[in-house]
Amino acid sequence: MTEVEGKQRVCVTGAGGYLASWVIKFLVSKGYMVHGTVRDPGDMKNAHLTKLENASENLQLFKADLLDYEGLCAATDGCTGVFHVACPVPARSNVPNPEEYYCLGKTVAESEALEYAKSSEFSNITVCPSIIIGPPLQPTMNASSLFLLTLLKGGIESLENKARPVVDVRDVAEALLLAYEKPEAKGRYICTSYVLRMQDLVNKLKSLYPNYNYPKSFTAIEEDVKMSSEKLQNLGWKYRPLDETIVDAVKRYEESGFLSKD
Ligand SMILES: NC(=O)c1ccc[n+]([C@@H]2O[C@H](COP(=O)([O-])OP(=O)(O)OC[C@H]3O[C@@H](n4cnc5c(N)ncnc54)[C@H](OP(=O)(O)O)[C@@H]3O)[C@@H](O)[C@H]2O)c1
Repeated sequence: MTEVEGKQRVCVTGAGGYLASWVIKFLVSKGYMVHGTVRDPGDMKNAHLTKLENASENLQLFKADLLDYEGLCAATDGCTGVFHVACPVPARSNVPNPEEYYCLGKTVAESEALEYAKSSEFSNITVCPSIIIGPPLQPTMNASSLFLLTLLKGGIESLENKARPVVDVRDVAEALLLAYEKPEAKGRYICTSYVLRMQDLVNKLKSLYPNYNYPKSFTAIEEDVKMSSEKLQNLGWKYRPLDETIVDAVKRYEESGFLSKD
């Protein structure tokens, strides 16, 4: 990545989360001054942020909940851009049908933001990733990392052979920076790299890590998934090979004790 000229100031919401941590890592390494919002700056789950390279000079944490208008104003003050990554995600929700609330919330938020941008001086770009996998920087597990981890941890006898679109967390973070930096970027970008059937994913994991305990049978599911990142690729986006994503994720799970090698 090339360095930015001068010190451009940007805000990243939900700084300690899975995706936001990578966004911040890339931003500070490029010389951006980053205002990261967290709900609890003293919580150890955000401690990894201060250890990122260049963080001591380039990262400042602000306490803000998404419903805290004053807190968000303080965090975005002086910034030329905001990477709005924070969102309550289902694994942490205790409402009935959390997936539906999540999808509704994301859809309404995106369409409101795109609508608002039409009549304001702000330019608004949205990047919509598929299931995000790859190495976490943060010390806690998020919902989508459990996707790979659950398959490796064992205990699943049979699995529906669904097709799932996935993308590496670092590729999504790079897509966000690209969308921010490219003057020609506009509107909405789908960000996905591979569509995997569960059985193919398990076979891939088995070939790389034969010693884990994998599901033994699969139920046939016929549905297909069609998603394309062509618009993002036309902007210059590239994605990593799947093996790199899996190997880096498993290495991180093992190092941080989410997975035991024995
Ligand atoms: N992971 C995926 O597969 C996936 C796929 C498509 C889109 N996305 C989107 O990508 C973004 C990041 O997701 P992620 O996977 O990185 O999830 P994550 O690790 O759970 O991060 C979510 C972040 O949002 C913060 N947050 C939640 N509720 C908040 C609130 N009321 N006020 C302030 N902050 C709040 C959390 O802060 P706390 O640490 O304080 O809880 C956390 O830092 C989200 O917008 C998500 O919808 C993710």
